[in-house]
Amino acid sequence: MRAELIDGKAFAGKIRAQVAENVARLKSGHGLTPGLAVVLVGEDPASEVYVRSKGKQTLEAGMASFEHKLPSDTAQADLLALIAQLNGDASVHGILVQLPLPDHLDSDLVINAIDPAKDVDGFHISNVGLLGTGQKSMVPCTPLGCLMMLRDQLGSLSGLNAVVVGRSNIVGKPMAQLLLGDSCTVTIAHSRTRDLAAVCRRADILVAAVGRPKMIPGDWIKPGATVIDVGINRIPAPEKGEGKTRLVGDVHFDSAAEVAGAITPVPGGVGPMTIACLLANTVTACCRAHG
Ligand code: GUN
Repeated sequence: MRAELIDGKAFAGKIRAQVAENVARLKSGHGLTPGLAVVLVGEDPASEVYVRSKGKQTLEAGMASFEHKLPSDTAQADLLALIAQLNGDASVHGILVQLPLPDHLDSDLVINAIDPAKDVDGFHISNVGLLGTGQKSMVPCTPLGCLMMLRDQLGSLSGLNAVVVGRSNIVGKPMAQLLLGDSCTVTIAHSRTRDLAAVCRRADILVAAVGRPKMIPGDWIKPGATVIDVGINRIPAPEKGEGKTRLVGDVHFDSAAEVAGAITPVPGGVGPMTIACLLANTVTACCRAHG
């Protein structure tokens, strides 16, 4: 393997330690405890795992964690009423509604009901607009984690060709905005992009966020490029036993690692950074709320 491994797990550990220090300072110096409310509607098993992990890490950082688990048939009015209550609760500094929501709920309406100052996901339309115009905002956690790893790995990103594969509101679009903010030349590629291989081969920075297992092979990667794999795909793993599964990224790791200069593994790359950035955003929201 030629590529350097970017250890997101270790990096996230450092961020969580910094967050815990800041929380301790807010408590002892100002009598403030940052609080994060997580709302989960329904019983999606993957979402339940994420929510449990968020709650655990919130408490480990010394913050207050408020979990609201609602049944899958929750009425939109009831969900909006809960959000209004959390908006008005001074002990809650961050609110996260776990996505995807069940089909009968209007995600845009729900997300835009969150007080933008408490929108630690950075999904509220006013935070999206602030990010797009280069103003101070809440920044979506996964792209923020990717940017931190890229800056740590490369130093200045100025002038580099960055290709983001995937155009989701959660990752692809905000990732592109952040890279543009760091003066990259940014291309957003997606399922309709013509000659995706050639587009990827121009990338000094390649961010894969499509949700398709091992879609990007090594021969699409420019030698020496930095590859950030956002994909978390569960695939069958018969080699581990019948019915077993394993996690893989959107990049074909083994072939990519022969060509890239640096690459994030899956698991242990981007994943742990997302929750660490969520905790950091919650502390930021608490500091801003108290001037
Ligand atoms: N579902 C998958 N990723 C995310 C995320 O970053 N935030 C929320 N709220 N839901 C998600």
